Amino acid sequence: MKLIDGKKIAREIQQEIAEKVVQIHKRKPGLAFILVGNHPASQTYVRAKQKACASTGIVSTLRSFPSSIKQNELIEQIHLLNQDETIDGILVQLPLPLHIHEWAIMTAIAPEKDVDGFHPINMGKLLLGDESGFLPCTPNGIKTLLHRYHIPISGKKVVIVGRSNIVGKPLAAMLMQKKDDCNATVTVAHSKSEYLTEITREADILIAAVGSPHFINETMVRKGVVIIDVGINRLTDQTLVGDVDFQKIAPIASAITPVPGGVGPMTIAMLLKNTFISYTTSIPKAPKKTEL
Ligand code: GUN
Repeated sequence: MKLIDGKKIAREIQQEIAEKVVQIHKRKPGLAFILVGNHPASQTYVRAKQKACASTGIVSTLRSFPSSIKQNELIEQIHLLNQDETIDGILVQLPLPLHIHEWAIMTAIAPEKDVDGFHPINMGKLLLGDESGFLPCTPNGIKTLLHRYHIPISGKKVVIVGRSNIVGKPLAAMLMQKKDDCNATVTVAHSKSEYLTEITREADILIAAVGSPHFINETMVRKGVVIIDVGINRLTDQTLVGDVDFQKIAPIASAITPVPGGVGPMTIAMLLKNTFISYTTSIPKAPKKTEL
C-alpha cells in the first residue's frame, strides 16, 4: 500500500509558486478573504490559507464582518474588491449565516477573481470543457494528486460518493473530461443510492466526499483500489478522521490518502495556484475554443 502524501505534494506546489512569485518585481499577487461571523472551523481554515499565502509571497488581506452584516452590505464589499487592482482573487469563506444567500454572494464575485471556482460562469465553463475558467480547488487538488502519483485515470472506473457543489459534482465533470489526462468512467453515488456497496466495489478509484466519519468500510472496496478521502470529521474526543475507515482499508488498497495530510493541503495549494493564474492573466481572457 502506498500512502498518498498530500502534504508533501502541496509543499512542492507551494514551492513552485513561491519561486515564480519571488521573480515578480512589481506588484505581488493579492488574495482577499472574507469571513462572516465567528465559526471556529472557518476561522481555522482562513488562518491556514493566509499562512500559505505568506509562505509563497502572495499578499493576503482579511475582511472580517459580524454575522449580523446585511446581504447588500456584503455585496458592496465584494464590489469594492472586484474593482481593486491589487486584488487578483476573492474568497468568501463558507458557510454563510442563514439570512445571506450563497448564490447572491457567489454571483457578486467577478468571475475573473473567483479563485474558489464557485461562480456559475466558472462552473459552467468546467462542464462545457472551456479551460479559461478557474477550477474548484478540492477537485483540482484531487486530480493533481492522482497525476503526481502517476495513478492512471483514463478509462478507469471512478466512483465518487457525494454530490456536493464544491466536490462531487465538479470533480465528476473534471475527471470525465474528454482529455488524455482525464477520460474516466465516472459514477456519482450518494447517501440515497441503492446497492451502494455493489457500486463502490466496482471502483478502480474511490473518492469519498460524504462528510460522515468512517462511512466507507472494508466491505465496500475491492483489493487494489485507490482511495481518496475528502472527509474531515471531528469525533467527540476531538480526533480528526476521514470518511474512510483508514485502518481497515489501508491493507486492501493499492494507494490511499490519510486524514489529515491528504486532500486538505492540496485544496490550499490549488487556491494559491488559481491566485497566481489570475495574477498572470489579469487582462480579460477570450474563451479558448475547445472540442465540445
Ligand atoms: N468552506 C469549506 N470549504 C470551502 C472552500 O473550499 N472555499 C470556501 N470559500 N469556503 C469553504
